Amino acid sequence: MKVLITGGSGFLGTELVAQAAAAGRETAATCHSRRGGVPGVAWYQLDLRHPGDIDAVLAEADPGTVINATSGQSDWAVTAEGSVRVAMAAAHRGCRLIHVSSDAVFSGSRVHYDETSLPDPVTPYGAAKAAAETAVRLLAPAAAVVRTSLILGHGRSVHERSEPRCNANTALP
Ligand SMILES: NC(=O)c1ccc[n+]([C@@H]2O[C@H](COP(=O)([O-])OP(=O)(O)OC[C@H]3O[C@@H](n4cnc5c(N)ncnc54)[C@H](OP(=O)(O)O)[C@@H]3O)[C@@H](O)[C@H]2O)c1
Repeated sequence: MKVLITGGSGFLGTELVAQAAAAGRETAATCHSRRGGVPGVAWYQLDLRHPGDIDAVLAEADPGTVINATSGQSDWAVTAEGSVRVAMAAAHRGCRLIHVSSDAVFSGSRVHYDETSLPDPVTPYGAAKAAAETAVRLLAPAAAVVRTSLILGHGRSVHERSEPRCNANTALP
């Protein structure tokens, strides 16, 4: 079954595309401003701010599964509304949806959180991610929503470059 990774040119998306292709899956991916570099993958240009773009990509790529790894940071039009568009289009075509979210939907004021905890974001980014999750849950109830925390990756992530102590390869004093 073909998998489409939206945000395939991003930090997480690049890894997902590489692993899907290496596992022998038929793989398609989207990019926005950069070109994706993984060979053997069908690439599509996508701007989630444009209504209809994602529908056109899904119609052409015809995936069975969509993994949404896009990020517009705190840009509501991409992170919140764009994710709603992905969920609507995936549900319309009967695609399985895996939506990548973030622990930023929580304020961090509690010690423990679980799947039943309601979002209480304190940043514009967290609010956009919480709005996206809410829409995904209602539009595509069978979707998997994956809340990840900081993603590290061999010193290549934005966080590792800006804060060396995040780098798993850096020895702490
Ligand atoms: N990185 C972390 O530590 C972290 C932590 C928690 C959660 N997450 C979540 O993990 C997911 C991936 O994050 P990431 O760090 O890999 O993000 P990233 O490196 O910033 O990549 C973002 C992706 O979204 C695409 N994109 C940007 N604007 C777009 C638009 N208008 N329309 C369509 N696509 C657009 C980018 O395309 P171009 O690059 O081609 O412009 C890129 O492929 C996100 O859902 C994020 O919220 C990440």
